[in-house]
Amino acid sequence: MSELQFPKEFFWGGATASNQCEGAWEQDNKGESCADHFTAGTKDAPRRFTKEFDPKAVYPSHYAIDHYNRYEEDIRLFAEMGFKMYRLSINWTRIFPHGDDAKLNQAGLDHYRKVLELCRYYDIEPLVTMSHYEFPYHLTQKWNGWEDRRTIDCFVQYTKTIMHEYKDLVKYWLTFNEINTPLMGAGVTMSLGMMPEAEKLVFGNAEQMSSKEATQIVNGLHHQFLASAQTVIEGRKINPDFEFGCMIASNIVYPYTCKPADVLAAWKQQQRTNFYCGDVMVRGEYASFTEAYHKDLQATLETLPEDADVLQAGTVDFYSFSYYMSGCATTDEEVLRKNKNVFSTAKNPYLEASEWGWQIDPEGLRYYLNETYSRYRVPLFIVENGLGARDEFVDGTVHDEYRIDYLRKHITAVGEAIADGAVVLGYTMWGCIDIVSASTGEMSKRYGFIYVDMDDEGEGTLNRYRKDSFYWYKNVIASNGAQL
Ligand code: BG6
Repeated sequence: MSELQFPKEFFWGGATASNQCEGAWEQDNKGESCADHFTAGTKDAPRRFTKEFDPKAVYPSHYAIDHYNRYEEDIRLFAEMGFKMYRLSINWTRIFPHGDDAKLNQAGLDHYRKVLELCRYYDIEPLVTMSHYEFPYHLTQKWNGWEDRRTIDCFVQYTKTIMHEYKDLVKYWLTFNEINTPLMGAGVTMSLGMMPEAEKLVFGNAEQMSSKEATQIVNGLHHQFLASAQTVIEGRKINPDFEFGCMIASNIVYPYTCKPADVLAAWKQQQRTNFYCGDVMVRGEYASFTEAYHKDLQATLETLPEDADVLQAGTVDFYSFSYYMSGCATTDEEVLRKNKNVFSTAKNPYLEASEWGWQIDPEGLRYYLNETYSRYRVPLFIVENGLGARDEFVDGTVHDEYRIDYLRKHITAVGEAIADGAVVLGYTMWGCIDIVSASTGEMSKRYGFIYVDMDDEGEGTLNRYRKDSFYWYKNVIASNGAQL
């Protein structure tokens, strides 16, 4: 029995994104999204973005785990675990296939109605991400995605449509998934819908961006901030009970040594990657360090006089984030070169890493929850956390003690942060059923409580199987976190 206390109404659950689980990429008039143009990759061979489809390449979003057609079975399994919440994304290109269509796609709208009604049937509260790497490719070609201000109106047309349609089914909304990833050298095409110059997934680390790239990114983000704020403003008119959250990819950065220059470097990196977006979305204004940051990036932000009021009027109700790992900042180039970690940080010598090199740090989650709560004083929500691992499927199951161990430690850290004083609404474990990895496009990087028989080449029966962690999590939920 754990001593930790979780609130009675705590939202235990799991999370997915449509582009990583639905497949059925051409079914029911769905349009192409940027995610549909990413090939499968591996840890060592990055995914490629191809403008035209390469007949020799594998595009995992095209088939994924066919959740689009198997959602009934999947949600039944989530209900069996006792989920209180299911975080899913609505795919913009199923509702407006090109992003700027005059007419909506009724088949797409009907599909998500059935999914949401089923959640309600099982007493599972849906948490809907309105944009999780599902940017309409047509708008990428037409306007270079979020670089163009006109994209705001297209997005708000889409969000108003789904908020009207599902106003009695959905209460909790997230506007953009991991909105800050472009500042960490990822998500420029996936999230901002910008056409990459080459077949690469990223522009490079923030520090390596050209002035032109940095300008595109800060303006693209500004347009997303405005689109999010307008969505919040419109949503409150549709249903005053709606609750909106931002969604930030948390970036914990420790100083590699106690050398003051390292401490400052860590502080700076953490501020810039975590609070740049968070401040605009929670506080309704840019952070105090923004000008200095833009100067360092050599980026020019273009705003209109009326933007400030929109940002102020459309702030979110809660702060949600993903948490997977941490890293270290160093001013010693040699240390950085020898210990290269993800997101231009150095590896922490005190931490182990997953097979994909993500350093495992449950205490970092406690730290982040406290740090963020004391900055914003709005409820927090861990909407992604989990371990991507290679599972061994034997006799119809997976004995995934390593996953249980990871989750146990992270959930303990959440309980400790609550005891420290942070207000936390819930925890939705990432990839509650095995889905395609966003960074590598692999199926073999698995997170789920439920094993899906599908390999990296898209071969498999697609049958679902309960792993050991399935039963473990069921018990965690039933005991409201007392039995970890
Ligand atoms: C987050 C994304 O970055 O991390 C998810 O919001 C993603 O879409 C998750 O799947 C885990 O990353 P990966 O690359 O292991 O799938």
